[in-house]
Amino acid sequence: MHFDILTIFPDFFDSPLAQGMIRRAVQDGIVTLAVHNIRDFAEDRHAMTDDRPFGGGEGMVMKPEPLAAAVRHARGQVTGGGSEAAKVLLLSPQGQSLNQELAAELAAERHLILVCGRYEGVDERFRASYVDREVSIGDYILTGGEPAALVLLDCLTRLLPGVLGCDASAANDTFSPGSRGGLKYPQYTRPRVFEDREVPEVLLSGDHAAIADWRLVQAVRRTARRRPELLKAADFTPAELRLLAK
Ligand code: ADE
Repeated sequence: MHFDILTIFPDFFDSPLAQGMIRRAVQDGIVTLAVHNIRDFAEDRHAMTDDRPFGGGEGMVMKPEPLAAAVRHARGQVTGGGSEAAKVLLLSPQGQSLNQELAAELAAERHLILVCGRYEGVDERFRASYVDREVSIGDYILTGGEPAALVLLDCLTRLLPGVLGCDASAANDTFSPGSRGGLKYPQYTRPRVFEDREVPEVLLSGDHAAIADWRLVQAVRRTARRRPELLKAADFTPAELRLLAK
């Protein structure tokens, strides 16, 4: 999967992209990445990427021409059939809220162009002509789309085949089908006793069916307590319902 990131702060991405899972995915050739400075596509002498809003008001608005030129450049970077299908995503608090379902949908794309906007906004004509989708990472306001682009990149990368040690682990994540769209069960590792608290006996039993049952019950209880709204869409089998009713 190829990502182009369009930003006025390219340095913001240096360290995060060179760490952990994203770095490994790049090294393994599962992900290719290019960060582009929108300023390089500005047409005027001062390399202006934003200007005052028509009609007056607070803040600055990102100019359409540098954004459009940067998108055209990014589209042309990938050859071999992928470039035609590139999707342009604008990170914006006005977009569709990112959740695990949207992440799974976007992770199936071959080429995403992530446009980091300023929170005051981008010129509407750029949005109308170039943006396929607006994505928000939550109902709060960041100073710009850069942290949101990183969140999206991280979230999509771990869903790509071969990135996690075990591909089944993404399916069992919190919010994923393996957790019935709810929260994940509690996890324990060594030591068996930590500050007088013991690991639940069943997890030491080696009885895989009993462990799976215990985890399901724990996950559902936790979800009911913390995020009851997630259980509305859960689809339990009759056997699971009997277990949960115990
Ligand atoms: N830019 C500013 N706030 C944002 C948010 N919540 N999500 C995505 N992009 C943003």
